[in-house]
Amino acid sequence: MYKTDYGDVTDALDRPLRDLRVSVTDRCNFRCTYCMPKEVFGRGYQFLPRDLLLTFEEITRLAKIFTAHGVEKIRITGGEPLLRRDLEQLIHMLTKLDGVQDLTLTTNGALLAKKAQTLRDAGLQRVTVSLDSLDDTVFKLMNDVDFPVERVLEGIEAAKEAGLYPIKINMVVRRGLNEDAVIEMARFFRGTDCILRFIEFMDVGTTNGWKLDDVVPAAEIISKIHQELPIEPVEASYRGEVAKRYRYIDGQGEIGMISSVTQPFCGDCTRARLSAEGVLYTCLFATAGHNLRELLRENRADEEIADLLRNIWAARRDRYSEIRTAETTPGHKVEMSHIGG
Ligand code: GTP
Ligand code: 5AD
Ligand code: SF4
Ligand code: SF4
Repeated sequence: MYKTDYGDVTDALDRPLRDLRVSVTDRCNFRCTYCMPKEVFGRGYQFLPRDLLLTFEEITRLAKIFTAHGVEKIRITGGEPLLRRDLEQLIHMLTKLDGVQDLTLTTNGALLAKKAQTLRDAGLQRVTVSLDSLDDTVFKLMNDVDFPVERVLEGIEAAKEAGLYPIKINMVVRRGLNEDAVIEMARFFRGTDCILRFIEFMDVGTTNGWKLDDVVPAAEIISKIHQELPIEPVEASYRGEVAKRYRYIDGQGEIGMISSVTQPFCGDCTRARLSAEGVLYTCLFATAGHNLRELLRENRADEEIADLLRNIWAARRDRYSEIRTAETTPGHKVEMSHIGG
């Protein structure tokens, strides 16, 4: 019989497996220029055919194997996860798994006004909403499908009413595009129970034209905010938390900094990612993954998939952001040539 508890597995760098990020679709109704630029994701782009997507049963079956190895947190992602039909059903199925302490979802918020309450009713605990600007013109420029910011704000309100707390707001900051909106965003979300997180623009994928010059370092954002709205650091809420936390000294809530470019956090990375077609990636920047869908559809036993998962995790050495920082930080390069020549 399949075991329900294997205990912790740790990777080659001694990191346990704690989080599972599950993509439920590769589609999105936005075309954010830094993520799905129109030139690449245009009309002719071939998204995954339906039969290659994991079914909810398949996702739940895998999630159960993951929780048996220490996963406590499941995050639903996409693309835009709310585009997946009947997502509430999946949420409901995942709530039945033992060991899941945190069940959440990252969305662009476009459909949240409509779906917040049913998601909550299905058992979703909280949401994270991506929002890069409050200025309608800039927001439309960034989502590139003319989507008005007002509707995302309505979605956030609906999430509040539904009790999907704590609501986190993700703002990807790009030099010259929305960097001036940092203070405005901070003011807007202060004292609202929403936790605003500033994210350094990352070089994910190969299509977003990433340049180091486009990154606004977290240290710069912190000092900008601190000058206007004094903040102080707060302890992480759990090991491996991606965001560094800060609170407003006047008690108006907290913000977070996700500085994967200038201060990478690979050392504590406990995240596995499952793509919509069932490929397991052990790093956001991985170039190859392991196809679990094939195993599921070949009717392999859970035990066999569990063995594979343990082997994959045990061999994991990913630390892409740390390596990239080492390569792109001038200070470090000098040191490298100094020792290595
Ligand atoms: P919380 O549990 O609410 O703290 O969420 P989270 O920060 O783990 O997840 P979220 O989906 O909100 O991601 C925030 C940002 O961090 C996004 O830009 C992600 O792409 C980035 N991010 C999340 N996990 C990783 C990671 O393992 N490595 C890197 N480099 N970036 C990550
Ligand atoms: N760099 C940083 N964050 C990104 N996101 C999407 N693309 C990038 C990128 N290149 C963010 C989205 C969302 C989160 C899951 O990832 O805005 O909030
Ligand atoms: Fe990418 Fe999210 Fe923008 Fe969609 S909304 S294009 S998934 S960043
Ligand atoms: Fe984890 Fe890879 Fe991100 Fe580093 S770059 S924190 S190893 S997902």
